[in-house]
Amino acid sequence: MKEILLTLRNASVHYGGVKALDSVTITVDEGEIIALMGPNGAGKSTALKAIFGLAPLTHGSVLWHDEEIVPVSHEMAASGIAYVPQGRQVFKSLSVYENLELGGYSLPNRKDIKNNIDAVLHLFPALKEKLSTKAGLLSGGQQQMLTIGRGLVADPRVLLLDEPSLGLAPKVVKEVFEKIREINKMRNIAIIVVEHSIKSILGIAHRTYVLANGRIAAEGKGESIEQSKILEKIFFAF
Ligand SMILES: Nc1ncnc2c1ncn2[C@@H]1O[C@H](COP(=O)(O)OP(=O)(O)OP(=O)(O)O)[C@@H](O)[C@H]1O
Ligand SMILES: [Mg+2]
Repeated sequence: MKEILLTLRNASVHYGGVKALDSVTITVDEGEIIALMGPNGAGKSTALKAIFGLAPLTHGSVLWHDEEIVPVSHEMAASGIAYVPQGRQVFKSLSVYENLELGGYSLPNRKDIKNNIDAVLHLFPALKEKLSTKAGLLSGGQQQMLTIGRGLVADPRVLLLDEPSLGLAPKVVKEVFEKIREINKMRNIAIIVVEHSIKSILGIAHRTYVLANGRIAAEGKGESIEQSKILEKIFFAF
């Protein structure tokens, strides 16, 4: 039996009158890939932000192993959680290398940062050829690789990826998901990935949560989620 690494427990987040999350529980085992699905506005990004201390919990908690932690971003980073937000947020006027260096802000030792960047470049050889290029000049797919790579420089135990496939061509989406699988396999990093297409996550995610209106509508293996047609029902209702 694998150990539970991270838990978002009974979490609620309210923005004014909007219940963005309503008593949501998500668990992540050591080395597990979790997919988070659901329509626009379902609360997927809010769930990742709640874990990383960027959305205020009105109720509930975050557990690292079985210890409750106060989710404050820099402490989460130091605990071993990396967050890659939605929308390929690179520092456009900084070089690829400088962007990667910023990913190591929580590491006290510069030598570790350098070694981790080398490991990331091994994983993403396309970035190696562009180290001095300004990040704003990269293609969309390369920028996405850069944001994932930047998250990995901190050498996390859990990687939170918010819609890494958004706006990318199908071939590039396939590449991004292959990298996600490789990261998980090679380094046993647990990953929560927000994704709209069930096809992309089948065969990659170990478990899937479906969110709708801030609540968990379904949870299980991708295949059983697909067979249940729950996604069609939920997306159709919006
Ligand atoms: N900072 C905020 N202030 C007010 N409301 C917010 C804020 N962030 C999110 N919300 C609201 O909370 C709900 C959940 O938003 P969230 O961004 O988590 O959805 P999502 O599932 O990630 O959607 P998408 O697929 O469009 O990215 C939405 O109704 C949204 O409008
Ligand atoms: Mg979102």
